[in-house]
Amino acid sequence: MLKLSPSILSADFNILGKQIKEVEEAGATYLHIDVMDGNFVPSISYGMPVIKSIRKNTNLFFDVHLMVEEPDRFLQDFKDAGADMITVHYEANKHLHRTITRIKEMGLKAGVALNPSTPVRVLEYIIEQLDMVLIMTVNPGFGGQSFIPFSIRKIQELKQMVERLGISIDIQVDGGISTANVREVIEAGANVIVAGTSVFNGNIKNNIEEFNNIFKDY
Ligand code: DX5
Ligand code: ZN
Repeated sequence: MLKLSPSILSADFNILGKQIKEVEEAGATYLHIDVMDGNFVPSISYGMPVIKSIRKNTNLFFDVHLMVEEPDRFLQDFKDAGADMITVHYEANKHLHRTITRIKEMGLKAGVALNPSTPVRVLEYIIEQLDMVLIMTVNPGFGGQSFIPFSIRKIQELKQMVERLGISIDIQVDGGISTANVREVIEAGANVIVAGTSVFNGNIKNNIEEFNNIFKDY
């Protein structure tokens, strides 16, 4: 089942609540929330108070992408703020298995994100505990960057690993995705599509409709 996860990093924060309503009314079910710590990635975005505040106004599934060093320190806080799924970075974690176990014990869905240069094989022993793997298709830290072409091969490799193990998990892609290249990532095996600029630039409702029209072909 294909899902669009609009990334609020590209929203207009002056009218964030209104834009989230537009996303919901356009038929999206996920909301991608990028948390940056200025350490794991070169920028700082927003954190728990913002999530807590927007939680009051929407039933969207909160897909929280933590670009944060040693995220164990904050898992409970993000749960309390309203996260439905927490995705942590392989590269930001000393004890990934412990972190994933904690997220699952809290009753949330758990994902692991891989930077562009991190091979899929590092997930071999953890993948069966995951609900989702996030293949970063740009270097994390900013919206509006260009899709890295070798990501297609990584998505295919991950899909093969999932099939070999006979498991069912979501494959998310994040960075530089638009209606111009979304077919390629879907055909490679991705089923949860993050889109920031290509949803929030221009008319949100029309942009989401364009993605949904493409999804109908699959
Ligand atoms: C980048 C973030 C992305 C970002 C994507 O570090 O993880 O979620 O919002 O933005 P676009 O779709 O504009 O590349
Ligand atoms: Zn993200």
